[in-house]
Amino acid sequence: MKILVIGSGGREHALAWKCSTDKFVEKVYVAPGNAGTLLEEKIENISLDINNNEDVSNFCVSNNIELVIVGPEDPLVNGLVDFLESKNIKVFGPRKGAAQLEGSKTFAKDFFIKYGIPTANYKSFDNHHDALKYLEKIDFPSVVKADGLAAGKGVIICDDREAAEKALEDIFESNAFGDAGNRVVIEDFLNGEEASFIAVVSDDQIIPLATSQDHKAVGDGDVGLNTGGMGAYSPAPVVTDEIHKRVIDEVMLPTMDGLKAEGFPYLGFLYAGLMIEGDEIKVLEFNCRFGDPETQPIMLRLESSLTNLCLDAVNKKLDAHQIEWSSMHSCGVVLASSGYPEDYETNIEIDIKNHFSENEKLFHAGTKFIDNKILTSGGRVFCMTALGETLEIAIDNAYNAIPKINFEGMFFRNDIGKKGLKND
Ligand code: AMP
Ligand code: GLY
Repeated sequence: MKILVIGSGGREHALAWKCSTDKFVEKVYVAPGNAGTLLEEKIENISLDINNNEDVSNFCVSNNIELVIVGPEDPLVNGLVDFLESKNIKVFGPRKGAAQLEGSKTFAKDFFIKYGIPTANYKSFDNHHDALKYLEKIDFPSVVKADGLAAGKGVIICDDREAAEKALEDIFESNAFGDAGNRVVIEDFLNGEEASFIAVVSDDQIIPLATSQDHKAVGDGDVGLNTGGMGAYSPAPVVTDEIHKRVIDEVMLPTMDGLKAEGFPYLGFLYAGLMIEGDEIKVLEFNCRFGDPETQPIMLRLESSLTNLCLDAVNKKLDAHQIEWSSMHSCGVVLASSGYPEDYETNIEIDIKNHFSENEKLFHAGTKFIDNKILTSGGRVFCMTALGETLEIAIDNAYNAIPKINFEGMFFRNDIGKKGLKND
C-alpha cells in the first residue's frame, strides 16, 4: 500500500520511517519532507502546499494513496481531514472541530472547566486594557499565553508584573504572534514535573502510547525561552502506574467524552501536556497531534506496526489492536541552529559522518538536500535518537553519537533525560 505523511519535521521523518519498515508498505510519500526523508529507502518527498486541501486531495486520488497521516497542527486546524474524508480518502487525524482543542487555548481552557478536567486557574482576554488590569489582582510568577497556534513559542512565564506587562505589550501592540495573539490567556503558574501523555484515539477507543518527557526551554536546567522542544526520552518514570491510570480516568476519557458531546468525536493522536506534582495532575495543554520531538524516541521503541495502528484507528478497530513496545529506553537530543528559538541563519552546510549503529537513529527536521549537499533550513535541525538498556545508557548513546554531525552554530542541551535519572 501507499501512504502519504503530511509535514516536514523530525516527527514526520520518524512517522514516515516507521511506516516504511512495514513489508506491506510499498511507498511512503512525505509532503514536503526534508533531507532525511529524501534519503530513506521507500520514502519519496513530494512538493505540495499542505495547507491547500484540494492539492493534497488531488495528489491522493492520482497516486492511489490508501492512508494519509497528518503530522503538524496547521493543516488539522485548517480542515484537511474534513476535506479528505469528504472525498472518501482514508485519513488519520482529527477534524477541524476537534483540532480546536489545540488551535485555541481559550477553547481548550473553557472545555477543561466544562468537563471537569484538572487545569490551572485562568482568565482569557481579547483586549490589552482588561488584561493589564487583571495583572493588578494576581500573584507572580504567572503565565501569559497567546491564544492561537504559535509553534510552542507563544507561552511566556512571567516572574513579575513588569515581565507580564511586557508580554502583553509584545502580543497586543507589537503583534509578536500575529493573529494567534488576538486573545491571550493568563493563568496561574504551576510547579511540578512535566510529562507528555500521548494516545491513539478513535471515538471512544484509546491506546495509550509509551510515556515521554520533553524539554521545552532552550537552555540547560530549563532556563531561557520556550522552544518547540529540545529533546525527549521514553519512558518517563514521573508517570508511575498509578498516575498512568489516573490520567486515563481523569483526563483522557473525560476529554474523549466531552469532545463527543460537543459534536467532535476524535480520531488521531491525542496529546495531553501534564504537570505532575506529588499526586496532583494538571493539564497544561492538549495537542491534536503527536509531539515533536517526543515522536522520535517513542517510534524507536514501537515494535508493532504504526501503519496498522493508524488503520485500526481509522476503521474503529482499536479495541482489538495489540501494540508492542521494546523494553529498551530511548533518548532524543535536538541539534539546533545558533539563535533558535529567535532568529537564526539557514542554508548552512552540514557534515554528517554516516554509519550509525543499530541503536542510533538520526532524525532530520530543518534540513534540505540541494546539489548533493545537506543544508540547514530550520531552527531545529536534527534529533539524534538512541536506544539503551537503561535510561542512562540511552542518554549516553545519544550524546556519544552527536559528534558524527557538525554544522556551524550547532547547539544542543546537555541535560536531556537527567530528570528521569533522578526519578529512577
Ligand atoms: P503550553 O503550550 O500551554 O503547553 O505551554 C508550553 C510550556 O510552557 C509548557 O510545556 C510548560 O513548560 C510551560 N507552561 C505552560 N503553562 C504553564 C503553567 N501554568 N505553569 C508552569 N509552566 C507552564
Ligand atoms: N514537544 C512539544 C510539542 O510537540 O508540542
